[in-house]
Amino acid sequence: MEQLTVEHSKGIRGEITVPGDKSISHRAVILGSIADGMTEVTGLLRGEDSLNTLRAFQKMGVEIKESGDRILIRGAGLRGLKEPVEVLDMGNSGTGIRLLSGLLAGQDLFAVLAGDASLGQRPMGRVTRPLRQMGAKIFGRDDGCLAPLAIQGSELHGIDYVSPVASAQVKSALLLAGLNAEGRTSVTEPSLSRDHTERMLRWFGVTVERQGTTVSVNGKERLSGSMVHVPSDFSSAAFFIVAALIVDGSDLLIRNVGINPTRTGLLAILERMGAKISLQSRDGSDEPVADIHVQTSDLKGTDVAPEEVPAAIDEFPILCVAAAVASGTTRISGASELRFKETDRIRAMTVNLQIAGVEVEELEDGLVIHGQERLNQAECNSFGDHRVAMAMAVAGLRSGSGITILDTGCIRTSFPGFEEILKGVNRGRK
Ligand code: S3P
Repeated sequence: MEQLTVEHSKGIRGEITVPGDKSISHRAVILGSIADGMTEVTGLLRGEDSLNTLRAFQKMGVEIKESGDRILIRGAGLRGLKEPVEVLDMGNSGTGIRLLSGLLAGQDLFAVLAGDASLGQRPMGRVTRPLRQMGAKIFGRDDGCLAPLAIQGSELHGIDYVSPVASAQVKSALLLAGLNAEGRTSVTEPSLSRDHTERMLRWFGVTVERQGTTVSVNGKERLSGSMVHVPSDFSSAAFFIVAALIVDGSDLLIRNVGINPTRTGLLAILERMGAKISLQSRDGSDEPVADIHVQTSDLKGTDVAPEEVPAAIDEFPILCVAAAVASGTTRISGASELRFKETDRIRAMTVNLQIAGVEVEELEDGLVIHGQERLNQAECNSFGDHRVAMAMAVAGLRSGSGITILDTGCIRTSFPGFEEILKGVNRGRK
């Protein structure tokens, strides 16, 4: 089993570029595959999650080729996917399995979507229930609430769905199903989740309407193949933002990062904690992009409110690390969605920070973290979760004599090269 040890650092310095955005990479492959004509993608994340999505479309007959940094996709059209003869292995990816459930429900084929042990425990009812309301034929363990999922494509009709959770995966699954449905499909969420699907659908020529937190598409509108440039993943940059903030003597520039406002909630929270972060906007395509400059800062604890959660949802493991070395107390609430991620992230971060000597109270929907100057030497578990693994690696930079994280192979799902980039900017042991 792979493991990683990170020791106390005397500075995080330099300029880096982190890999492509995971959410946007999935969507580029999905939309490119069902568009008419060619789609050219640059900056695609070569992580296990997005590669599994790419392989799934290859198994459904889509021609996808690599040419240097470019991925060329010959779109099969809205209903042109071929029935796969093998199970589609979505690995660790909730985004992959949920978005494909929606897309395949209205295709003329039978498909089975499966994944690893973590994926097999994640809630699928949140997508299969509304998809069944649209007429989808989906089967799975626990009456379709758990993967593997078997889908017999059928004729769908649009619905107005009011989602109980702010989830981009639920929203996107229904919008993708809506592309093949009769009539109009609308999704209303309690607050706005990331909007990459809506943006990219528009980029491919589809009319997407939004009113407040309701988004709608009309069925049978075709997509035109496009050029997509995938910016660097803010969620990957976040580990280095916090690393530079919490290590003395740091000065770091992270280039070309996607700063879609539905993703960058962490910045406002960190700024309230006293972080010195500045953004220099760059020309992007339909997704805003910036260089992010970070310097060592004295962080103080803060209260994170429930309405701040959706735009920072993937950043809580690393925010917990920032809180663990801030002065004072940080209270996070309204974040129960964290219990349904690649692992239960509230539990995982509570356990790991406690092993590192931090005083943490676990709440049903969050955590209370009492910051301290240094973390103890510790051996932690990733719980198979890439973001828990990387967060604890960053924690090691502020440890007395090192933090070891076990089972770190999962980092490859979203951030191949994480360890090398960390080594490149780490100015070594104090
Ligand atoms: C994602 C949506 C979010 C996020 C996940 C990626 C996406 O999940 O946590 O890492 O690409 O749509 P939810 O849909 O559960 O909010």
